[in-house]
Amino acid sequence: MKGIILAGGSGTRLHPLTKITNKHLLPVYDRPMIYYPLETLVEAGIEDIMLVTGGNHAGEFLKLLGNGREFGLKHLNYTYQERAGGIAEALGLTQHFAGGDKVVVMLGDNLIQDSLREAVQAFEAQPEGAKILLKAVPNPMEYGVAELQGDRIVGIEEKPRQPKSNLAVIGIYFYDAQVFDVIQTLEPSLRGELEITDVNNAYLQRGQLAHELVRGWWGDAGESIEALLRVSNLVADWRVQ
Ligand code: DAU
Repeated sequence: MKGIILAGGSGTRLHPLTKITNKHLLPVYDRPMIYYPLETLVEAGIEDIMLVTGGNHAGEFLKLLGNGREFGLKHLNYTYQERAGGIAEALGLTQHFAGGDKVVVMLGDNLIQDSLREAVQAFEAQPEGAKILLKAVPNPMEYGVAELQGDRIVGIEEKPRQPKSNLAVIGIYFYDAQVFDVIQTLEPSLRGELEITDVNNAYLQRGQLAHELVRGWWGDAGESIEALLRVSNLVADWRVQ
């Protein structure tokens, strides 16, 4: 399975911190934000990773991460998103890299306490389709939200005003090679982006969307200044345990 980290986007929610740098290079406790998803994928046993970035500071990632040797990688792949056209658009740029393999996709601003090792192994064994991870949160309207009937997902809404549950779809996704065909069929949303929630709903309609609940803490450090602080504190508490 290949790993993909998405670190494009404009980062306007973190202004002025992101006026002269990329959001994913900001510190979360004692490390740049981008270190965390990279370490999570490497720890899960993923050896082939591509980072998608964009904007004016893309070169900084190369300076910071190089070939990923510090993380135990032999090589790190990069590609460039020319405008912030959405998470699904950024993912679409990695088709040549995926080369028909399954992929695990992590948003560059998502941090997770749990290891992904078991989820990666379980998805290797899943014959086809996709898998998403869910976490109960106090503020579901900030995220993609899954509606469940029993243990079955019946719909996902992106940042709903009236969420149908408190289960956020976190920014870690597992897809088979069909994902690139699904992305081709998408239309931009009202915010002008190709939405990952539309990708997940397409798999749901095919009856091919599995899910799992996350046990430990999860945070989207790029959601707001408050979230950046909250996630930094989560990491700090975790380190001193
Ligand atoms: O954090 C989980 C949430 O992430 C999900 O619950 C939502 O369903 C999903 O849409 C996403 O919501 P956000 O509004 O937080 O996404 P954001 O625009 O912050 O983008 C998340 C990451 O994706 C960001 O770290 C960089 C990358 N990205 C984003 C865009 C819009 C790209 O690489 N390219 C892009 O064009």
